[in-house]
This record gives sequence, C-alpha cells and structure tokens, in this order.
Amino acid sequence: MIDIKRFQKDFPMLTGKTMQGHPLVWLDNASTTFKPISVLKAVEKYYTEYTSNSHRGDYDLCYQVDSLIVETRKTVADFIHAKSEEVVFTSGCTASLNLVAFGYGLTHVKKDDEILLTQAEHASNVLPWFKVAEMTGAKISYIPLDEEGRLTAENLRKVISNKTKIIAVAHVTNVLGYVAPIKELAAIAHEYGAILVCDGAQSVPHMKTDVQDLDCDFLAFSGHKMCGPTGIGVLYGKFSLLCETEPFMTGGGMNAKFDMCGDVNYLQPPLRFEAGTQNIEGILGLKVAIDYLNSIGIEEITTYERELKKYAVRQLEKTNMAEIYNPHSEAGIVTFNIKGVFAQDGATFLNSKGIACRSGNHCAKILIDYLHQVATIRASFYFYTTRQDIDALVDAVAHGKEFLDAYF
Ligand code: ALA
Repeated sequence: MIDIKRFQKDFPMLTGKTMQGHPLVWLDNASTTFKPISVLKAVEKYYTEYTSNSHRGDYDLCYQVDSLIVETRKTVADFIHAKSEEVVFTSGCTASLNLVAFGYGLTHVKKDDEILLTQAEHASNVLPWFKVAEMTGAKISYIPLDEEGRLTAENLRKVISNKTKIIAVAHVTNVLGYVAPIKELAAIAHEYGAILVCDGAQSVPHMKTDVQDLDCDFLAFSGHKMCGPTGIGVLYGKFSLLCETEPFMTGGGMNAKFDMCGDVNYLQPPLRFEAGTQNIEGILGLKVAIDYLNSIGIEEITTYERELKKYAVRQLEKTNMAEIYNPHSEAGIVTFNIKGVFAQDGATFLNSKGIACRSGNHCAKILIDYLHQVATIRASFYFYTTRQDIDALVDAVAHGKEFLDAYF
C-alpha cells in the first residue's frame, strides 16, 4: 500500500535538506533511488556480523553468506518470474547489457547481419551494440519511433528481416517514459529467428515484469534504481541462451577446473558469469530492497506513479510555462523545458529551490535528433514521491519567468 508516512520514516534521505538548507525535493528517481533503512541495515549486517567471501570457505560464516546469496537469487527470480539459474548478478544494467553484447552478440552475429535498436535507447543499450557491429561487420538499424516517440510492433514489422539477429530495446524509455510492447516485439523477433534483449532499467523497478509472459530472451536491470545498493545489477537470460553465452570475464568462482594445457571447464550459468569476488553487500541489499517493494506491491507502485504523472502533466500545463515532450507516456517521467530557458539553466534554477531534476540528454544522445531539443529537464518519480513534491516543481516552473528576468 502507498503509505507516504511510512516512507518518511523508512527513507532517511526523504527528510534531508539540500546544501542551501531547503527541504530536498528528489525528482531524479530514473537516475537513482533512495534506500530504506532495512537495505542499509542489511549492508551493515554483512560487515558487522558475517563478513566472509562467498563460495570459498568451509566455515559457518561463509555458509551463511552463500545461503543468503542463494536466497537473493531466488527472490530476484520470483520477482521477474524466472528460474534461479537464469539470474546472473552483475555490477549493474550496463554490465548486464555488455555481457549480452560481448558474450552472446559477438558469437551469434556475423557480417551483414542486422542489430535493431531505437533512437530512444540509453547509451548502455547502444554503444555495446555499436562495438559488436564494428567487430563483426554486422549492421545497426533503427526501428522508427511513431510520431509521439513510441516503439510499436507495427514499426518493427516495417524493418525486421531475416538478417535481423538481435533486437535490443528498453521496456520503458529513460527520457520519454513510453512502455514498449515487449511481448509483441518478442513474438515478432522469434518469427524471424532473432532474439529480443530488453533493457529493464526503467521498468523492473516500477512495473510487474514477468519474463515468461513477455518471452524476452534477455532482461537487464540495476539494483540502485529499485531501492537497492549501487554496484549490483541483474542479467536474466533464458537458460538455453545463457548456456550459449561466452563468459565475458573469467577467473575464480566461474570455473570447474583448468589445467596447464589451457583446458578449462566452466561452471554452468549463472556462476559461469560471476568471476571474482562478488558485490556481496550489494546482493544482500538487493534482496531486502525487493522485499521492501513486495511489501508495497509492484502493481500499487505502477498505479500510484502513473496517477502522479498525470497530475504533474496537468499541473505543469496550467502554468503555461512548460513545454512537455511526453504528456501521454505511461511511466512516472515528465520531460520538459521551461519556455525560453535552456534546460541546464532551468535545472540550476530548480536546484536553487531544493528541487533535484536531471537535465541534458540523459545519456540518450541519439534521441536529440528525434526531439529536436539538445537538452531537456527530466522529473522522474517513485512510490515515495508526493503531490507536494510535484507542487513544488510546478510552483518553481510557474516562476521560471523570474529566472529569465534575473538573467536577461
Ligand atoms: N540511466 C540513468 C538515467 O537515465 C542514469 O538517468
């Protein structure tokens, strides 16, 4: 249940103040999210009560840590309706996408094959594919966005061909906040023998994600965007595909044996992809973060944020000072400019009122050509964002003219 009072108690950052002494209005949740005390305690507990390395000791502490890691993998798997062996821990969504690109893409894509992206993708779902294309001679093409900026199944059909091997798209785009019809896209990809890689950075924290229903082949997401620690992420892959994926990193913890002749046996997925000492505190914190989200209910979170988004758009429109670029997208992301004010100046002005929004191109550098805006301000919400936070933003935007008067 959305219980703002509970969140005020659970999240120390929500009662924080800015350097200038303003109450903090945090509207940059697409960038990262606050952590509840339970997550902070889980991290602390690892260091104060059972510090040890995983998979490496025959003593109780190590057994405790190993068991918690197994439990976390199961918690993550349940959260996205996968099997535990399909959940790989990584350092974040970027690492997960790079693992698919270099572990799977490089060995499954040949010269003149095609990788399909969209113009709305985050750098982490573009640049690894550019590299794969450069290394294999494959071609990058783009599924056109519709006039609003959405990815549609119809537009995928216009460009997909038998040469298409990989389609890599965001479930929810990080600037415009549109939800892609992943299930339909995956079905079309499979008709053509291609795989669908889903960037779930902006979707998994905010909406129910059922990988079996979606039938996506890989799904990448980060812990820190869903109340977990930084430096921990997940790559889900269908087990058969993970078995065909080369380990991107090799080392301890991922091999069964190797000899002086260079013969190596790797462990089965997911351990095959987890070389070296893992981010144990991050893994343990991620479990507690997911428990926290489950205690609220992911569907409640989606409904709440979508209402908040509509409220924000309505209120911003009333000011007549905001140019909004995504009024009809579903996710709790409003991307706009204060009329006549450059985005970064606008964000600086908001900062002077204690409001934290991201400005610029938000790592989606090829979206600029679509939006015809070099920079925008992005306000992004989570379940602990309140109408008062939105009102503070709206009030500041309504006074954007003062900013202009001060500078021109
Ligand atoms: N990927 C994060 C964002 O969109 C950093 O802001």
